[in-house]
Amino acid sequence: MYTPRPLAENIFYVGVNDRQKELFENYLPLPFGVAYNSYLIVDEKVALIDTVDVNFAHNLFGKIDAILNGRQIDYLIVNHMEPDHAGSIDLLRHKYPNVQIVANAKSMDMLNGYFGITSNVLEVKEGDCLNLGKRILTFFMMPMVHWPEVMVTYENTDNILFSADAFGTFGTNDGDYLDEHLNTDKYWDEMRRYYACIVGKFGVPVQNALKKLSALPISMICSTHGPVWKKEIAKVVGLYDRWSRYETEEGLVIAYASMYGHTQLMAEAVAEGAIADGIKNVVIHNVSKTDSSFILADIFKYNGLVLGCPTYMGELYPLIEKLVAGIQHRGIKNRVYSCFGSFTWAGAAAKKLTALAETMKWELVGTPVENKQNVSAEKYRECYELGGEMAKKIYNFC
Ligand code: FEO
Repeated sequence: MYTPRPLAENIFYVGVNDRQKELFENYLPLPFGVAYNSYLIVDEKVALIDTVDVNFAHNLFGKIDAILNGRQIDYLIVNHMEPDHAGSIDLLRHKYPNVQIVANAKSMDMLNGYFGITSNVLEVKEGDCLNLGKRILTFFMMPMVHWPEVMVTYENTDNILFSADAFGTFGTNDGDYLDEHLNTDKYWDEMRRYYACIVGKFGVPVQNALKKLSALPISMICSTHGPVWKKEIAKVVGLYDRWSRYETEEGLVIAYASMYGHTQLMAEAVAEGAIADGIKNVVIHNVSKTDSSFILADIFKYNGLVLGCPTYMGELYPLIEKLVAGIQHRGIKNRVYSCFGSFTWAGAAAKKLTALAETMKWELVGTPVENKQNVSAEKYRECYELGGEMAKKIYNFC
Protein backbone atom coordinates (compact mmCIF):
# COMPACT_ATOMS: atom_id res chain seq x y z
CA MET A 1 0.00 0.00 0.00
CA TYR A 2 1.44 3.37 -1.06
CA THR A 3 1.92 5.79 1.82
CA PRO A 4 2.02 9.38 0.57
CA ARG A 5 4.97 11.35 1.94
CA PRO A 6 5.02 15.02 0.97
CA LEU A 7 8.31 16.56 -0.14
CA ALA A 8 6.83 19.90 0.97
CA GLU A 9 3.41 20.78 2.35
CA ASN A 10 0.89 19.16 -0.02
CA ILE A 11 3.48 18.46 -2.72
CA PHE A 12 3.95 14.74 -3.34
CA TYR A 13 6.36 12.55 -5.25
CA VAL A 14 4.23 10.15 -7.31
CA GLY A 15 6.93 8.74 -9.59
CA VAL A 16 7.65 5.08 -10.33
CA ASN A 17 10.64 2.78 -10.67
CA ASP A 18 11.23 0.79 -13.86
CA ARG A 19 13.28 -2.29 -13.00
CA GLN A 20 12.26 -4.22 -16.12
CA LYS A 21 13.41 -2.18 -19.09
CA GLU A 22 16.71 -3.39 -20.52
CA LEU A 23 17.47 -0.47 -22.81
CA PHE A 24 16.57 3.18 -22.27
CA GLU A 25 15.44 4.77 -25.54
CA ASN A 26 15.94 1.20 -26.76
CA TYR A 27 19.74 1.47 -26.92
CA LEU A 28 21.19 2.49 -23.53
CA PRO A 29 21.64 -0.34 -20.97
CA LEU A 30 19.96 0.12 -17.60
CA PRO A 31 21.92 -2.02 -15.11
CA PHE A 32 20.43 -0.08 -12.18
CA GLY A 33 16.99 0.61 -13.69
CA VAL A 34 15.46 4.04 -14.05
CA ALA A 35 12.80 6.13 -12.30
CA TYR A 36 10.13 8.17 -14.08
CA ASN A 37 9.31 11.01 -11.71
CA SER A 38 6.01 12.78 -11.48
CA TYR A 39 4.85 15.28 -8.85
CA LEU A 40 1.42 16.19 -7.50
CA ILE A 41 0.60 19.58 -5.96
CA VAL A 42 -2.62 19.69 -3.95
CA ASP A 43 -3.82 23.24 -3.43
CA GLU A 44 -7.11 25.02 -4.14
CA LYS A 45 -6.39 23.62 -7.58
CA VAL A 46 -4.64 20.29 -8.10
CA ALA A 47 -1.73 20.11 -10.53
CA LEU A 48 0.21 17.08 -11.74
CA ILE A 49 3.67 17.78 -13.15
CA ASP A 50 4.50 15.33 -15.95
CA THR A 51 3.28 11.74 -16.17
CA VAL A 52 5.27 8.48 -16.55
CA ASP A 53 6.00 5.80 -19.14
CA VAL A 54 2.64 4.37 -20.26
CA ASN A 55 3.54 0.90 -18.92
CA PHE A 56 3.49 2.37 -15.41
CA ALA A 57 0.33 4.48 -15.70
CA HIS A 58 -1.55 2.25 -13.26
CA ASN A 59 1.20 2.74 -10.62
CA LEU A 60 1.01 6.49 -11.08
CA PHE A 61 -2.78 6.54 -10.90
CA GLY A 62 -2.75 4.35 -7.77
CA LYS A 63 -0.52 6.87 -6.00
CA ILE A 64 -2.63 9.80 -7.14
CA ASP A 65 -5.82 8.04 -5.99
CA ALA A 66 -4.31 7.43 -2.54
CA ILE A 67 -3.63 11.16 -2.19
CA LEU A 68 -6.70 12.70 -3.85
CA ASN A 69 -9.29 10.23 -2.62
CA GLY A 70 -11.70 11.01 -5.43
CA ARG A 71 -10.77 14.64 -5.97
CA GLN A 72 -10.09 15.61 -9.58
CA ILE A 73 -6.87 16.90 -11.15
CA ASP A 74 -7.28 20.42 -12.51
CA TYR A 75 -4.01 20.82 -14.41
CA LEU A 76 -1.42 18.61 -16.02
CA ILE A 77 1.82 20.56 -16.46
CA VAL A 78 3.78 19.17 -19.42
CA ASN A 79 7.43 20.06 -19.00
CA HIS A 80 8.66 17.53 -21.57
CA MET A 81 6.95 15.51 -24.28
CA GLU A 82 9.29 12.53 -24.60
CA PRO A 83 7.09 9.46 -24.06
CA ASP A 84 8.90 8.29 -20.91
CA HIS A 85 7.09 11.27 -19.30
CA ALA A 86 4.26 12.08 -21.68
CA GLY A 87 3.30 8.47 -22.35
CA SER A 88 0.39 8.39 -19.89
CA ILE A 89 -1.22 11.69 -20.93
CA ASP A 90 -3.92 10.05 -23.00
CA LEU A 91 -4.87 7.63 -20.19
CA LEU A 92 -4.80 10.49 -17.69
CA ARG A 93 -7.28 12.42 -19.83
CA HIS A 94 -9.60 9.43 -19.86
CA LYS A 95 -9.41 9.14 -16.06
CA TYR A 96 -9.67 12.89 -15.48
CA PRO A 97 -11.69 14.18 -18.48
CA ASN A 98 -11.72 17.77 -17.27
CA VAL A 99 -7.98 18.08 -16.69
CA GLN A 100 -6.53 21.10 -18.48
CA ILE A 101 -3.14 20.56 -20.05
CA VAL A 102 -0.63 23.35 -19.48
CA ALA A 103 1.97 23.40 -22.22
CA ASN A 104 3.99 25.67 -24.47
CA ALA A 105 3.43 26.06 -28.22
CA LYS A 106 6.01 23.44 -29.19
CA SER A 107 4.50 20.91 -26.78
CA MET A 108 1.04 21.67 -28.13
CA ASP A 109 2.20 20.62 -31.58
CA MET A 110 3.51 17.34 -30.11
CA LEU A 111 0.33 16.78 -28.06
CA ASN A 112 -1.59 16.95 -31.29
CA GLY A 113 0.90 14.77 -33.16
CA TYR A 114 1.20 12.05 -30.52
CA PHE A 115 -2.33 12.02 -29.07
CA GLY A 116 -4.56 14.17 -31.28
CA ILE A 117 -5.07 16.50 -28.31
CA THR A 118 -6.08 20.00 -29.36
CA SER A 119 -8.71 21.01 -26.80
CA ASN A 120 -8.61 22.06 -23.15
CA VAL A 121 -4.97 23.08 -23.47
CA LEU A 122 -3.66 26.22 -21.80
CA GLU A 123 -0.68 27.64 -23.68
CA VAL A 124 2.06 29.20 -21.57
CA LYS A 125 5.07 31.26 -22.56
CA GLU A 126 8.33 32.27 -20.90
CA GLY A 127 7.68 33.71 -17.43
CA ASP A 128 3.92 33.00 -17.38
CA CYS A 129 2.42 32.12 -13.99
CA LEU A 130 -0.33 29.75 -12.91
CA ASN A 131 -2.04 30.44 -9.60
CA LEU A 132 -3.06 27.26 -7.76
CA GLY A 133 -4.38 29.06 -4.67
CA LYS A 134 -1.63 29.29 -2.09
CA ARG A 135 1.09 28.35 -4.55
CA ILE A 136 2.07 29.95 -7.83
CA LEU A 137 3.89 28.15 -10.63
CA THR A 138 6.12 30.00 -13.10
CA PHE A 139 7.26 28.53 -16.39
CA PHE A 140 10.66 28.97 -18.02
CA MET A 141 11.57 27.65 -21.46
CA MET A 142 14.68 25.46 -21.68
CA PRO A 143 14.87 24.58 -25.40
CA MET A 144 17.20 21.73 -26.38
CA VAL A 145 17.76 20.45 -22.86
CA HIS A 146 17.37 18.05 -24.56
CA TRP A 147 14.25 18.46 -26.78
CA PRO A 148 13.05 21.75 -28.30
CA GLU A 149 9.81 21.97 -26.27
CA VAL A 150 11.37 21.46 -22.83
CA MET A 151 10.36 23.89 -20.11
CA VAL A 152 10.80 23.87 -16.34
CA THR A 153 8.27 24.78 -13.67
CA TYR A 154 9.21 26.83 -10.62
CA GLU A 155 7.13 26.80 -7.44
CA ASN A 156 7.79 30.07 -5.65
CA THR A 157 6.61 29.46 -2.08
CA ASP A 158 9.05 26.68 -1.25
CA ASN A 159 11.40 27.50 -4.19
CA ILE A 160 11.10 24.11 -5.84
CA LEU A 161 12.32 23.61 -9.39
CA PHE A 162 10.64 20.93 -11.47
CA SER A 163 13.43 20.57 -13.99
CA ALA A 164 12.28 17.99 -16.59
CA ASP A 165 15.25 15.77 -17.58
CA ALA A 166 17.85 18.30 -16.43
CA PHE A 167 19.88 17.01 -13.45
CA GLY A 168 18.37 13.56 -13.96
CA THR A 169 20.16 10.24 -13.72
CA PHE A 170 19.70 6.59 -14.48
CA GLY A 171 19.12 4.42 -11.40
CA THR A 172 15.93 3.72 -9.46
CA ASN A 173 14.89 5.50 -6.27
CA ASP A 174 15.24 2.65 -3.80
CA GLY A 175 13.05 3.06 -0.73
CA ASP A 176 12.95 6.84 -0.91
CA TYR A 177 13.21 9.64 -3.43
CA LEU A 178 14.99 12.38 -1.43
CA ASP A 179 18.78 12.56 -1.74
CA GLU A 180 19.33 13.26 1.95
CA HIS A 181 17.72 9.90 2.80
CA LEU A 182 19.79 7.94 0.27
CA ASN A 183 23.39 6.95 -0.27
CA THR A 184 23.86 8.93 -3.46
CA ASP A 185 27.27 7.40 -4.34
CA LYS A 186 25.60 5.01 -6.76
CA TYR A 187 24.20 7.83 -8.90
CA TRP A 188 27.22 9.92 -9.94
CA ASP A 189 28.64 7.65 -12.66
CA GLU A 190 25.16 6.95 -13.97
CA MET A 191 24.33 10.65 -13.96
CA ARG A 192 27.40 11.33 -16.08
CA ARG A 193 26.44 8.51 -18.47
CA TYR A 194 22.91 9.91 -18.71
CA TYR A 195 24.32 13.37 -19.41
CA ALA A 196 26.92 12.14 -21.91
CA CYS A 197 24.47 10.08 -23.93
CA ILE A 198 21.29 12.14 -23.78
CA VAL A 199 22.17 15.76 -23.04
CA GLY A 200 25.87 15.80 -24.03
CA LYS A 201 25.39 17.30 -27.49
CA PHE A 202 23.64 20.35 -26.05
CA GLY A 203 26.37 22.12 -24.06
CA VAL A 204 25.37 25.64 -25.15
CA PRO A 205 21.63 25.21 -24.36
CA VAL A 206 22.60 23.77 -20.94
CA GLN A 207 24.80 26.80 -20.26
CA ASN A 208 21.91 29.09 -21.27
CA ALA A 209 19.59 27.18 -18.93
CA LEU A 210 22.03 27.42 -16.03
CA LYS A 211 22.35 31.18 -16.52
CA LYS A 212 18.57 31.54 -16.47
CA LEU A 213 18.20 29.37 -13.34
CA SER A 214 21.01 31.15 -11.50
CA ALA A 215 18.63 34.04 -10.76
CA LEU A 216 16.26 31.78 -8.79
CA PRO A 217 16.59 30.66 -5.17
CA ILE A 218 16.22 26.87 -5.28
CA SER A 219 15.58 24.64 -2.26
CA MET A 220 14.88 21.42 -4.20
CA ILE A 221 15.40 20.19 -7.75
CA CYS A 222 12.76 17.72 -8.84
CA SER A 223 13.99 16.09 -12.02
CA THR A 224 12.10 13.52 -14.06
CA HIS A 225 14.72 10.82 -13.35
CA GLY A 226 16.55 9.87 -10.15
CA PRO A 227 16.42 11.42 -6.71
CA VAL A 228 15.00 14.77 -5.70
CA TRP A 229 18.07 16.90 -5.07
CA LYS A 230 18.01 18.87 -1.82
CA LYS A 231 21.31 18.23 -0.07
CA GLU A 232 23.27 17.94 -3.33
CA ILE A 233 21.93 20.91 -5.29
CA ALA A 234 25.30 22.66 -5.50
CA LYS A 235 26.98 19.45 -6.64
CA VAL A 236 24.51 18.58 -9.41
CA VAL A 237 24.42 22.15 -10.73
CA GLY A 238 28.23 22.21 -10.64
CA LEU A 239 28.43 18.93 -12.55
CA TYR A 240 26.10 20.21 -15.25
CA ASP A 241 28.16 23.37 -15.50
CA ARG A 242 31.41 21.38 -15.90
CA TRP A 243 30.02 18.84 -18.35
CA SER A 244 28.32 21.43 -20.53
CA ARG A 245 31.65 23.28 -20.78
CA TYR A 246 33.28 19.92 -21.70
CA GLU A 247 35.60 20.33 -18.71
CA THR A 248 37.57 17.25 -17.73
CA GLU A 249 39.70 15.52 -15.14
CA GLU A 250 43.26 14.35 -15.75
CA GLY A 251 43.16 10.84 -17.18
CA LEU A 252 43.33 8.67 -20.26
CA VAL A 253 40.64 6.54 -21.90
CA ILE A 254 41.94 3.86 -24.26
CA ALA A 255 39.08 2.36 -26.28
CA TYR A 256 40.05 -0.43 -28.62
CA ALA A 257 38.69 -3.27 -30.71
CA SER A 258 40.59 -6.46 -31.34
CA MET A 259 39.56 -9.62 -33.17
CA TYR A 260 42.52 -11.87 -32.39
CA GLY A 261 44.50 -10.04 -29.71
CA HIS A 262 47.05 -8.08 -31.71
CA THR A 263 45.35 -4.68 -31.41
CA GLN A 264 44.66 -5.42 -27.74
CA LEU A 265 48.42 -5.81 -27.25
CA MET A 266 48.89 -2.34 -28.73
CA ALA A 267 46.31 -0.96 -26.27
CA GLU A 268 48.17 -2.57 -23.35
CA ALA A 269 51.45 -1.02 -24.54
CA VAL A 270 49.89 2.47 -24.74
CA ALA A 271 48.55 2.05 -21.19
CA GLU A 272 51.93 0.89 -19.87
CA GLY A 273 53.62 3.90 -21.44
CA ALA A 274 51.08 6.33 -20.00
CA ILE A 275 51.27 4.85 -16.49
CA ALA A 276 55.08 4.82 -16.62
CA ASP A 277 54.97 8.53 -17.39
CA GLY A 278 52.86 9.31 -14.35
CA ILE A 279 49.19 9.21 -15.33
CA LYS A 280 47.19 7.43 -12.63
CA ASN A 281 43.73 7.42 -14.19
CA VAL A 282 43.97 5.07 -17.16
CA VAL A 283 40.79 3.30 -18.25
CA ILE A 284 40.92 0.63 -20.96
CA HIS A 285 37.67 -0.31 -22.71
CA ASN A 286 37.24 -3.20 -25.10
CA VAL A 287 34.41 -1.92 -27.30
CA SER A 288 33.25 -5.48 -27.91
CA LYS A 289 32.58 -5.98 -24.18
CA THR A 290 31.62 -2.53 -22.92
CA ASP A 291 28.61 -0.71 -24.25
CA SER A 292 29.59 2.56 -25.91
CA SER A 293 27.44 4.57 -23.48
CA PHE A 294 29.83 3.70 -20.63
CA ILE A 295 32.82 4.59 -22.81
CA LEU A 296 31.27 7.93 -23.77
CA ALA A 297 30.68 8.64 -20.08
CA ASP A 298 34.42 8.13 -19.44
CA ILE A 299 35.34 10.22 -22.47
CA PHE A 300 33.25 13.02 -20.92
CA LYS A 301 35.21 12.56 -17.69
CA TYR A 302 38.86 12.47 -18.81
CA ASN A 303 40.93 14.77 -21.01
CA GLY A 304 42.91 12.07 -22.86
CA LEU A 305 41.64 9.63 -25.47
CA VAL A 306 43.35 6.97 -27.56
CA LEU A 307 41.33 4.89 -30.03
CA GLY A 308 42.59 1.75 -31.75
CA CYS A 309 41.17 -0.98 -33.95
CA PRO A 310 41.81 -3.35 -36.82
CA THR A 311 40.96 -2.53 -40.40
CA TYR A 312 37.73 -4.31 -41.31
CA MET A 313 36.57 -4.52 -44.93
CA GLY A 314 38.77 -1.53 -45.66
CA GLU A 315 37.01 0.50 -42.93
CA LEU A 316 37.09 0.94 -39.17
CA TYR A 317 36.05 -2.06 -37.07
CA PRO A 318 32.23 -1.68 -36.78
CA LEU A 319 32.00 -1.12 -33.01
CA ILE A 320 34.75 1.52 -33.11
CA GLU A 321 32.87 3.12 -35.99
CA LYS A 322 29.81 3.26 -33.72
CA LEU A 323 31.84 4.85 -30.91
CA VAL A 324 33.39 7.39 -33.29
CA ALA A 325 29.89 8.33 -34.51
CA GLY A 326 28.79 8.76 -30.87
CA ILE A 327 31.75 11.08 -30.21
CA GLN A 328 31.04 13.12 -33.33
CA HIS A 329 27.30 13.41 -32.62
CA ARG A 330 28.05 14.88 -29.20
CA GLY A 331 30.58 17.42 -30.46
CA ILE A 332 32.97 16.61 -27.62
CA LYS A 333 35.47 19.44 -27.35
CA ASN A 334 39.02 19.91 -26.26
CA ARG A 335 40.61 16.48 -25.89
CA VAL A 336 44.20 15.23 -26.10
CA TYR A 337 44.00 12.50 -28.71
CA SER A 338 45.91 9.84 -30.56
CA CYS A 339 45.25 6.47 -32.14
CA PHE A 340 46.59 3.22 -33.49
CA GLY A 341 45.45 0.65 -36.01
CA SER A 342 46.23 -2.76 -37.38
CA PHE A 343 45.73 -4.72 -40.57
CA THR A 344 46.70 -7.95 -42.31
CA TRP A 345 46.90 -7.02 -45.99
CA ALA A 346 45.79 -3.37 -46.47
CA GLY A 347 45.64 -0.77 -43.70
CA ALA A 348 42.90 1.84 -43.30
CA ALA A 349 42.05 2.04 -39.58
CA ALA A 350 44.99 4.17 -38.42
CA LYS A 351 44.43 6.68 -41.21
CA LYS A 352 40.69 6.94 -40.53
CA LEU A 353 41.19 7.29 -36.78
CA THR A 354 43.84 9.95 -37.38
CA ALA A 355 41.32 11.92 -39.44
CA LEU A 356 39.03 12.12 -36.37
CA ALA A 357 41.45 14.63 -34.78
CA GLU A 358 40.85 17.11 -37.57
CA THR A 359 37.10 16.48 -37.61
CA MET A 360 36.85 17.16 -33.87
CA LYS A 361 39.48 19.95 -33.88
CA TRP A 362 41.51 18.01 -31.32
CA GLU A 363 45.27 18.11 -31.01
CA LEU A 364 46.79 14.91 -32.40
CA VAL A 365 49.56 13.69 -30.10
CA GLY A 366 52.64 11.90 -31.47
CA THR A 367 52.58 9.65 -34.48
CA PRO A 368 49.69 7.18 -34.71
CA VAL A 369 50.99 3.62 -34.79
CA GLU A 370 50.00 1.29 -37.60
CA ASN A 371 50.81 -2.39 -37.29
CA LYS A 372 50.77 -5.17 -39.90
CA GLN A 373 49.97 -8.71 -38.66
CA ASN A 374 51.88 -9.74 -35.54
CA VAL A 375 52.98 -6.98 -33.14
CA SER A 376 56.74 -6.67 -33.42
CA ALA A 377 58.94 -5.45 -30.57
CA GLU A 378 59.42 -2.23 -32.51
CA LYS A 379 55.68 -1.61 -32.85
CA TYR A 380 55.15 -2.45 -29.19
CA ARG A 381 57.77 0.15 -28.28
CA GLU A 382 56.13 2.73 -30.55
CA CYS A 383 52.81 2.18 -28.76
CA TYR A 384 54.51 2.41 -25.36
CA GLU A 385 56.16 5.68 -26.38
CA LEU A 386 52.85 6.99 -27.70
CA GLY A 387 51.39 6.33 -24.23
CA GLY A 388 54.23 8.34 -22.70
CA GLU A 389 53.66 11.25 -25.08
CA MET A 390 49.95 11.18 -24.25
CA ALA A 391 50.76 11.30 -20.52
CA LYS A 392 52.94 14.41 -20.94
CA LYS A 393 50.22 16.20 -22.89
CA ILE A 394 47.54 15.13 -20.42
CA TYR A 395 49.24 16.55 -17.37
CA ASN A 396 50.26 19.72 -19.17
CA PHE A 397 46.70 20.13 -20.44
CA CYS A 398 44.83 23.33 -19.76
FE1 FEO B 1 13.37 11.37 -19.75
FE2 FEO B 1 13.87 13.20 -22.48
O1 FEO B 1 12.91 12.05 -21.40
